[in-house]
Amino acid sequence: MKENMSQYEIITEGKEKILVYGRERIKVLITESDLQDKVKELGGRITKDYAGRELVIIAVLRGSFIFLADISREIKMPVIFDFMAVSSYGDSKVSSGIVRITKDLEFSIEGKEVLIIEDIVDSGRTLNYLVKNLQARNPHSIEICALLDKDVPRKMENKVKYKGFDIPNKFVVGYGLDFAENFRNIPFIGYIENE
Ligand code: IMP
Ligand code: MG
Repeated sequence: MKENMSQYEIITEGKEKILVYGRERIKVLITESDLQDKVKELGGRITKDYAGRELVIIAVLRGSFIFLADISREIKMPVIFDFMAVSSYGDSKVSSGIVRITKDLEFSIEGKEVLIIEDIVDSGRTLNYLVKNLQARNPHSIEICALLDKDVPRKMENKVKYKGFDIPNKFVVGYGLDFAENFRNIPFIGYIENE
């Protein structure tokens, strides 16, 4: 077997850096350093806005786990963390449209200041469902922080208060985001070429 067959390789083509794994080629869309700058900025805003309040962060598993780990260290105040898992895609690149809770919160959020941390807003169905579901548990407030906002025509109003980047309508991976559970551990946001 060829050496490195099972490892990611970074190649350079002209000015572009491309991650190659088998037949998959992943182009950089947002670099590590741009991600880190944005995470610092968002963390700073959240720290300022929630000063003196008791913040509960609800992270949506699994796509948000790397973003969460980074942004939580830029929020310079006490925070309680809880997790929810929802599934809407299965192994496909297209949302099934049906949102299912596969893991619920451990704590009550009644009367709490809730901030949802999400990786990406595509159709908006997942967030819409989550906000409705959480609202019914009577928190004091609910806001949304999402790293990426995909440029897709959508009917739902966009309620994201803390947004990282607007991105084109491409299927992206890395920094927590997957394609069929792969590529979550790539340190940048990229898109799969030849789509
Ligand atoms: P929505 O319900 O259509 O807004 O989809 C949101 C969820 O789908 C996100 O939480 C992601 O887990 C997943 N998703 C949407 N677009 C992408 C993508 O480009 N790459 C990886 N996951 C995505
Ligand atoms: Mg996903």
